[in-house]
Amino acid sequence: MKALIIYFTSLGRTKKTAQAIGTAMTNYEVDYYPFILKGTFGMKVSIQTQHTKGDFSSIEQELSKLEKIEQNYDLIIFGMPTYGDNPPNAFYEILKRVDIKEQKVAIFTTCSITGKKTLELMEKTVKDAGAIIVSQARFKGLFRPKLRQAHKFGQHIN
Ligand SMILES: Cc1cc2nc3c(=O)[nH]c(=O)nc-3n(C[C@H](O)[C@H](O)[C@H](O)COP(=O)(O)O)c2cc1C
Repeated sequence: MKALIIYFTSLGRTKKTAQAIGTAMTNYEVDYYPFILKGTFGMKVSIQTQHTKGDFSSIEQELSKLEKIEQNYDLIIFGMPTYGDNPPNAFYEILKRVDIKEQKVAIFTTCSITGKKTLELMEKTVKDAGAIIVSQARFKGLFRPKLRQAHKFGQHIN
């Protein structure tokens, strides 16, 4: 079986979490589709501000390649951090670029404390796009990502 993990990260925690999930999914051939913000913290904040204004030019290259990926995955996993109790704006743009109608989907968010609302918003968005949610998780880690939990989540999906 084939799975695709599409994730967004600014500080690197969602990347580590995505990899812990993917590594545990031994029955799947796992591809990763990362959106990684690079540069100083200030640069990352400024990119996110552009995204809030609807300007996604900083990640347009990744977005346009996403539109062209073959849609033959048994499962697509979306992994998003929680910023200000929301998924990043890029999440909604990513969803516009990938067809998930009748697609099996899992979702997760990484956060420090909250993240419940993020997961609810992600759930609503993927459901509205016609996907079937098979699993979801929130990984709360104040100081470091919850990689053991993420591994268990991957085993559960497997
Ligand atoms: C600008 C900013 C806003 C954040 N807002 C929240 C929040 O509202 N709730 C929460 O629990 N964690 C919040 N966090 C913590 C992140 O959700 C957490 O560190 C996450 O794992 C970061 O993912 P990343 O390393 O992949 O970027 C915030 C972090 C940043 C940098």
